[in-house]
Amino acid sequence: MTTAPNVHVLPQTDQLRALHTVIRDRACTQQDFVTHSRRVFRLLLEAALDLLPFAKKEVSTPIGAVYEGLEPARDPYAVSVVRAGEAMETELRDMMPGIRVGKILIQRDKQTKLPHLYYKHLPDDIADHPVLLLEPMLATAGSALAAVDVLLEQGVQEERIVLVDLLASPQGLQRVADERPHLQIITSSIEERLTEHAFMLPGIGDFGDRFFGTTDSGARP
Ligand code: PRP
Repeated sequence: MTTAPNVHVLPQTDQLRALHTVIRDRACTQQDFVTHSRRVFRLLLEAALDLLPFAKKEVSTPIGAVYEGLEPARDPYAVSVVRAGEAMETELRDMMPGIRVGKILIQRDKQTKLPHLYYKHLPDDIADHPVLLLEPMLATAGSALAAVDVLLEQGVQEERIVLVDLLASPQGLQRVADERPHLQIITSSIEERLTEHAFMLPGIGDFGDRFFGTTDSGARP
């Protein structure tokens, strides 16, 4: 697959592969799943912030010198796609305690795999800010694109959206690149493929269930 220019993949370091090895193991405990996926989230979120625009800022150092630095051009906001996207919030709040966070509740129909929007609650002035869209799993991309539609309806500019995914399928990435070519995507892994049942391979199972402990079946899609 040729990766579109708006798709960014974390460097596939041994460290990152070791973290993935823990969370992809069907025998992984819930506690290990949470701690290790959060470590990948930290890498993803720092890389996502790096995709936003910065403005020059000078500061004086304790010894009276000037450091010619940078600061975010606008404060980023975050929006999590409930439920799995909420798993990224704790890490983000540790990094940026004052960040404003909106919620969009989207669930896939268990049979059709089509996304259904149930609820949204976004900061009033979200249209004026870049948005980190937190959605760990990009399979068919239906859920993520439905969430992007909500943001666009609210006035957020497409080029100011960074979609943050733990795993992404080649099909999902292609669909986002085709339908929303101006947003940015950061992922820690491009999976081999999507099955006919819309599960990623090799995948991680049902992220939400494994992170929140709502099932003990790590092998479930
Ligand atoms: C899962 C996952 C993503 C979505 C990805 O959510 O957490 O939100 O499917 O699939 P897609 O790219 O094909 O839309 P699900 O609806 O199962 O809800 P959950 O977050 O509660 O697990």
